[in-house]
Amino acid sequence: MDSKYNVMGNGNKPSTSKFHLKNKPFPIIFNLKKNGGPPSPKKIKLNDENDSKSKSSTVTTVLHMNGSSNGTKANGIKTTKPKLSIQDQRRSLPIFANRNKLLGLIKSHETLIIVGETGCGKTTQIPQYIHSARLEESGCIGITQPRRVAAISIAKRVAQEHGGGMDVGDLVGYTVRFEDVTSKKTKIKYLTDGMLLREAMFDKLLMNYTVIILDEAHERTIHTDVLFGVVKNAQKKRKERNIAPLKILIMSATMDVDHFSSYFNNCRAVYLEGRTYPVNMYYTIKPHDDYQTACVSTFFKIHREAPPNYDVLIFLTGQEEIEAVAHQIRILSKDPEVEGPPLKIFTLFGAQPSTMQLSVFQPVPEGHRKVVISTNIAETSVTISGIRYIIDSGMVKVRSFHPATGLEMLKIQRISQEQAWQRTGRAGRDSEGCCYRLYTRSQFELMSKSSTPEIQRANLNSVVLQLLALGIQAQYFDFMSKPPPDAVAAALEQLKLLGAIEDTENSKLTEIGRKMTKFPLDPRFSKILLTAQQYGCLEEALIVVAFLSGESVLLNPSSRKEQAQIVRQKFCSGYGDHVTLLNIYREFSNVGQSNKRAWCHEHFINMRNILNVREIRSQLEEICKSCDIPSSSCGSQMDLLRKCLISGLFMNVAELNRDRQYVALHKRQAVCIHPSSVLHGQQPHLVLFTEVVQTSKCYLRNLSTVEAEWLLEVAPDYFKHVNIRTK
Ligand code: CDP
Ligand code: MG
Repeated sequence: MDSKYNVMGNGNKPSTSKFHLKNKPFPIIFNLKKNGGPPSPKKIKLNDENDSKSKSSTVTTVLHMNGSSNGTKANGIKTTKPKLSIQDQRRSLPIFANRNKLLGLIKSHETLIIVGETGCGKTTQIPQYIHSARLEESGCIGITQPRRVAAISIAKRVAQEHGGGMDVGDLVGYTVRFEDVTSKKTKIKYLTDGMLLREAMFDKLLMNYTVIILDEAHERTIHTDVLFGVVKNAQKKRKERNIAPLKILIMSATMDVDHFSSYFNNCRAVYLEGRTYPVNMYYTIKPHDDYQTACVSTFFKIHREAPPNYDVLIFLTGQEEIEAVAHQIRILSKDPEVEGPPLKIFTLFGAQPSTMQLSVFQPVPEGHRKVVISTNIAETSVTISGIRYIIDSGMVKVRSFHPATGLEMLKIQRISQEQAWQRTGRAGRDSEGCCYRLYTRSQFELMSKSSTPEIQRANLNSVVLQLLALGIQAQYFDFMSKPPPDAVAAALEQLKLLGAIEDTENSKLTEIGRKMTKFPLDPRFSKILLTAQQYGCLEEALIVVAFLSGESVLLNPSSRKEQAQIVRQKFCSGYGDHVTLLNIYREFSNVGQSNKRAWCHEHFINMRNILNVREIRSQLEEICKSCDIPSSSCGSQMDLLRKCLISGLFMNVAELNRDRQYVALHKRQAVCIHPSSVLHGQQPHLVLFTEVVQTSKCYLRNLSTVEAEWLLEVAPDYFKHVNIRTK
């Protein structure tokens, strides 16, 4: 690779060597494909309500919408945006003109699929239209979101739109894991799909709701997939028993309408046809393996050529990458030889506080350029106006379970063609745009058409347990796409080893299994809390599990990484990361309320996230009380805590082999310790890990050292079949 790119290679601070962008041949060469665009979805015009015996299984209504091109003339030249009141903004949304027709269709169908361009107003407006027409009657409208940030930010926005001095939590509220902002008054409730599934465990027929909107259905998260079946069943049962009918709406920006319609008893689909502008497509001529560098190079090519206020959206895979690229762009843009308007850089990823995420919507001053560097959140969950250019790395981070290795991993992989088109479409929202794909045309052709639903690639132990709590055996559940039988078998096996079910055949829940379902946690973590009494370490186990359930509290700004590590050195424990986190928490708790902020600042700790850990800890403690687990503390006896962690995570043990390499004991997969772990470079004989991240290798994160003899003592059923090398 060209030496000048070494500057940006691995997130290091650029050296003093100048980064010349001017007058140099640009290393990334693109091929232009004119008039690119996704194959348009099949649309059938509806003639008549009685036309349901149409040849196609899906009858689709097409509602044409006029694009809201506020501030943009038809020729795509941006004008100064007039500041619209929030109500005018609502009226200017493409969906507004069709609201009555749409309401008519919603009224007359018990199940309806609604497909419409991202940003047209589905998520924020449709629940409000339904409420204004009082279609929900005495019940409530529940809208599911796959992402916590979307549920929170949209609820806040809708509460604001609804006005009347109402706060979020009044008429409009939200429920996400560990946070419930609703009240008796709440009629429009945004909630994560996981939370609705949790509610179903206590109320199988979902009697609180008269309308359920399954939003972002194309994302096919494991929870949404299970909800499809649960909600469909609730609707059927309520009909059979002649009690309050349940209306189901399935919404998305892009989906296989036929597949969804046939699953939902051939229900009707309505297609909100929005106005979009052409997007010029570019592919690289050669494949590039360093997509981060390619993003930076491509960005500066655009930055040099495009007029100010032509904003750029870059798709990458995760926080670390996004922060590294943001840092590189920030540094390089300060180079006096770099041409282009002043820049405002925004980042967008799931683990960010929602206030920070909302800042991407802020317009930048005239004459500037906004660049947003995002994960796939910006694909469909949020819409940022003003974007003219897309840079698509072609990659995404997904969680997947491999029954063959028994490991669930976060893995960076190629997106699907459907995702690629969705990313492209983000540029054609309010004017003509360009999309730079950092892959070749033939690499695109090789991408899978659509992404594999999570249910077909994830660890199913949580879902299988939740279904059992609903009285359903996963093997017989009416899934839209069946999960692989070996993944279901692996989940049953794991639940058996955790003591949650009596045996894998009849899969009857045990007392422990029933208690596990009370926790909004992976069964492995619930097991740790349920075993803590035995080791007298509930206080410590609660803190560790709360940390593992929240967002990372450690701040590592790239310019001051070393300094952060030095000041936090005093917390580091030779027992590993879990005990290190516990040490951080203990010291944080001892600091007086008025000094907490300064303490966090000094130690590079994210204050909001550690307060969130404290909140999660106290909620988990409440659930433990309801399960009659007495409080206990093991003080400084960290052996007890580590044994307790083994009780849930026994399948996550790796040992150092004779070649000084780690192998995970479960299926002997080669792994290594992530550089962020305090155990990195120490090579203990046995480690217990919390998660696996796959990049070039399989890296273990959040580790504790454990002793060989503890394994048989804590999880004899599992370890009696496993060979462990003696030291
Ligand atoms: O669900 P869909 O993608 O169709 O759109 P939406 O989420 O209902 O958003 C409609 C419009 O509301 C977007 O185009 C944004 O301009 C605006 N919006 C906003 O300004 N702030 C939010 N937090 C959410 C939406
Ligand atoms: Mg939406």
